[in-house]
Amino acid sequence: MGKVYLTGAGPGDIELLTLKAARVIKEADVIIYDRLANPEILQMAKNGCEFIYVGKEDGKHILPQEQINEVIYKSALRYDVVVRLKGGDPFVFGRGGEEGKYLFERGVDFEIIPGITSSISVPAYAGIPVTHRGVSVSFRVVTGHEAPNKEASQIPWENFKTDDTIVFLMGLHNLQQIAQKLIEIGKPKDFPVAVISKGTTPEQKTVVGTLENIYEKARDLPTPALIVVGKVVNLRESLNWFEKSARQNALAYA
Ligand SMILES: C[S@@+](CC[C@H](N)C(=O)[O-])C[C@H]1O[C@@H](n2cnc3c(N)ncnc32)[C@H](O)[C@@H]1O
Repeated sequence: MGKVYLTGAGPGDIELLTLKAARVIKEADVIIYDRLANPEILQMAKNGCEFIYVGKEDGKHILPQEQINEVIYKSALRYDVVVRLKGGDPFVFGRGGEEGKYLFERGVDFEIIPGITSSISVPAYAGIPVTHRGVSVSFRVVTGHEAPNKEASQIPWENFKTDDTIVFLMGLHNLQQIAQKLIEIGKPKDFPVAVISKGTTPEQKTVVGTLENIYEKARDLPTPALIVVGKVVNLRESLNWFEKSARQNALAYA
């Protein structure tokens, strides 16, 4: 029986891959991967490595999670080194816990290799620190996948009244309802929001607005995209290092 590495691929910029992830990717006999922010990572694999795509398109898994678990398990029966590669970090809305549990129940040896999660690194590349002294003393990472008006919502909306930072992943298609819900619980209409698309890649785009107008401004951005709600968004005026340097590079090579 082989060993499975549940591995974070980072948010997109290939240099944000950890050294440990790079090592197991080079050693892998098979790599089971999602729609990755950076498919170039697969080029690091050795000759003869098998690739199995089990990815997501627009929030829908090509394979249901149960079948993905089984693909990983079967791969461990056939190969010595199995890498299950996931965008960002495997335990931040990555279902890595479910996959690890499935392997544990079948006696398969596995390791978790954390990755740099998009929830902090994408805001950082947009010049937005998720905490900042005097502005925000905590941040939450919340699924935006669940419609806010859903009955029996698991999301504790009433807890979001503070000024602290909220990062919504998987939320672009619910952007209008999320903004509306935050206004409903008492946040000011002009509370700052940013939507960052394809973060940490050369195609990164950031749109800044308020709870009232962000939907109109950002609705057509391409995915993957995340939403940052909080006064920390205003710090981008001074800290927007990446898009500024990308623009400068583009001008220099034009
Ligand atoms: C299923 S979640 C997985 C999160 C991942 N495990 C992580 O730690 O980043 C996918 C969501 O992450 C966000 N995301 C991932 N990569 C991104 C990127 N490069 N730019 C913007 N958002 C990204 C988007 O909100 C996307 O819908």
